[in-house]
Amino acid sequence: MNNSGKDNLSKVFALKLATKRGALYRADCTTLLASIKDNTVDCILADPPFNLGKSYGSSIIIDKLPNWKYLEWTQHWLSQCVRILKPGGSLFVYHIPKWLISISSYLNTTENMEFRHWIAIKMKNGFPIKNRLHPVHYGLLYYVKRGKRLKFHIIRYPSPVCRHCGELIRDYGGYLKKYRTNGNSVPLIQIADVWDDVNPNIHNKNRPKSINELPSIIPERVIRMATNKGDIVLDPFAGGGSTLSMAESNERYWIGCELGTTVHAQNRILKEAKATKSTVLPQRIQKIFR
Ligand SMILES: C[S@@+](CC[C@H](N)C(=O)[O-])C[C@H]1O[C@@H](n2cnc3c(N)ncnc32)[C@H](O)[C@@H]1O
Repeated sequence: MNNSGKDNLSKVFALKLATKRGALYRADCTTLLASIKDNTVDCILADPPFNLGKSYGSSIIIDKLPNWKYLEWTQHWLSQCVRILKPGGSLFVYHIPKWLISISSYLNTTENMEFRHWIAIKMKNGFPIKNRLHPVHYGLLYYVKRGKRLKFHIIRYPSPVCRHCGELIRDYGGYLKKYRTNGNSVPLIQIADVWDDVNPNIHNKNRPKSINELPSIIPERVIRMATNKGDIVLDPFAGGGSTLSMAESNERYWIGCELGTTVHAQNRILKEAKATKSTVLPQRIQKIFR
């Protein structure tokens, strides 16, 4: 694989896949992020390990650190994300509420990040825990970097209907007329800060459990909501490649980083997004490295 003049990069990180829109590296994200210039990335979607003792199929990934150490590590990669994000760019962090609280507190202390939303993504089934409320949502924190007008596009989806009679489940009052667009009989409603129409837990028989993938609809919504075609999307914890594949198929440039195996992400990008391998990095991506 030729990195077109960026030989140092291939020595520090293993470039596993390049397409005409993106590059996937096998690397520790803190190293990869440190090599990216300030204010160069339009959108970051981070879905880190949750520190719940999960095995990611690689002995170098330890998902059970003492709380203080996990927090220190989290702040380390977050600070790099803040640095490389363009003014007006968006940062999304997918996590469980326990850690999102700390992540949000940290981001609130940085002078250039502004809170926009805490998006609750509802699980189909909660997990009963003794003496606790059943946790039935993951959180998706949405921050923007101050300094320029942010990019924001409204996303719509068909209103839920009763599966027996086909009638609308919700009453939209006076807004109903506004929502019926494009001649659809079912109104296309605007996404809110609770996403109960997507199931965050996907079970894919063809992939090992160690690949904790998000369903494509989550990164696709993020990308469509917060970026334009031609923007650069970065995923520091690429896993099975859901973000990268959606960036590729939605005509965004992308950079992915994964410390464990990248085989599943590579396959997903090539098959799902129908991307073709390239022997050189896209110019747009080359330019953002130091
Ligand atoms: C929750 S999964 C991400 C799943 C991904 N969003 C998807 O939809 O496929 C977290 C991933 O981070 C990877 N990882 C853990 N530590 C890392 C690090 N320091 N740098 C890069 N990747 C890391 C794990 O191997 C795992 O694949």
